[in-house]
Amino acid sequence: LKAKAKQWEKEAADVKQAAVLGAGIMGGGIAYQSAYKGTPILMKDINEDGIALGLKEAKKLLSKRVAKGKMKPEQMADALNNIRPTLTYGDFGNVDIVVEAVVENVKVKDSVLREVEDQVSEDTIVTSNTSTISIDTLSKNLKRPENFCGMHFFNPVPMMPLVEVIRGEKTSDRAIATTVAYAKAMGKTPIVVNNCPGFLVNRVLFPYFGGFAGLVRDGADFQRVDKVMENFGWPMGPAYLLDVVGMDTGKHANEVMAEGFPDRMKTDWKSGIDVMFENDRYGQKNGKGFYAYE
Ligand code: CAA
Ligand code: NAD
Repeated sequence: LKAKAKQWEKEAADVKQAAVLGAGIMGGGIAYQSAYKGTPILMKDINEDGIALGLKEAKKLLSKRVAKGKMKPEQMADALNNIRPTLTYGDFGNVDIVVEAVVENVKVKDSVLREVEDQVSEDTIVTSNTSTISIDTLSKNLKRPENFCGMHFFNPVPMMPLVEVIRGEKTSDRAIATTVAYAKAMGKTPIVVNNCPGFLVNRVLFPYFGGFAGLVRDGADFQRVDKVMENFGWPMGPAYLLDVVGMDTGKHANEVMAEGFPDRMKTDWKSGIDVMFENDRYGQKNGKGFYAYE
């Protein structure tokens, strides 16, 4: 394995310029982390509001570091200069790696990935931050599937060390090596995993959410379940964590997992996650989920 890792290191492309598609919870965090650790990044969204939110979050996180004396104001300015917000693909010709972080929807991702592939060079590595969708499904309509793999960050990106690098059937060693190298440059701990719905972490996490939904269906109070899980030693319970993740992402990811693992995941009843989603309670992103936020 060590010899293979050494070989990979040699194959990794030098990442001088990155790009992220989507400036939401994850895209904004990825842009912040890349910029803060010194790799310039283009941050593309389809609307100004999305970009404004992504930049506001990055500024907030950097200001906090300055206030705590962990960073000088000029370093904050450098980090902010490393994030170039855009609504177009104008500068994508020089990008070494792309992280797609748009909504968890196969059709949207398929169209965005095909679109970006036409804008980047033949050597550019294109990755997806999908939570659950098969890497082979996402690469099906790409011209260069060998340049594509998963790069799955965890929320909140600045705090969570792990990044899953997911190898699809056609992914090249160069794509894996470059993605691993970029994750390391961002100060993260990458692990290379095989492709399946939910990969490694969400294959464990989503059945846990399913267990929580089942308890609520059977009459449990969600706040008590959260308290119990906190007392068990976890930083937060499942209802609060779903509010952090976002109910839209949670619901769509849940559907992919239920299709992939019908023996483990609910398919035929409406869960608390579905009810929250249908009532526009998306979690912290819109100020109301299982809990209410300022
Ligand atoms: N964004 C950025 N920084 C944050 C933050 C956030 N959302 N929340 C806390 N922080 C920072 C604080 O500012 C603080 O920084 P300093 O050390 O500079 O002071 C530091 O983190 C510690 O903060 P706290 O003491 O308030 O929090 P903590 O240490 O108790 O824990 C945490 C913070 C590690 C994020 C913890 O809340 C946690 O583990 N939460 C669970 C997160 C989780 O499970 N994520 C996975 C979601 S699922 C997923 O991502 C996969 C998917 O595909 C859906
Ligand atoms: P989000 O709703 O916060 O952000 C999505 C962003 O994508 C929005 O700003 C939207 O305007 C933008 N967008 C939509 N279509 C676009 C397009 N064609 N081009 C560019 N931007 C576009 O969602 P999120 O929570 O950041 O999730 C993004 C991805 O990351 C999803 O695949 C999700 O499964 C995955 N993910 C989410 C979490 C989480 O906890 N939220 C954790 C890990 C992975």
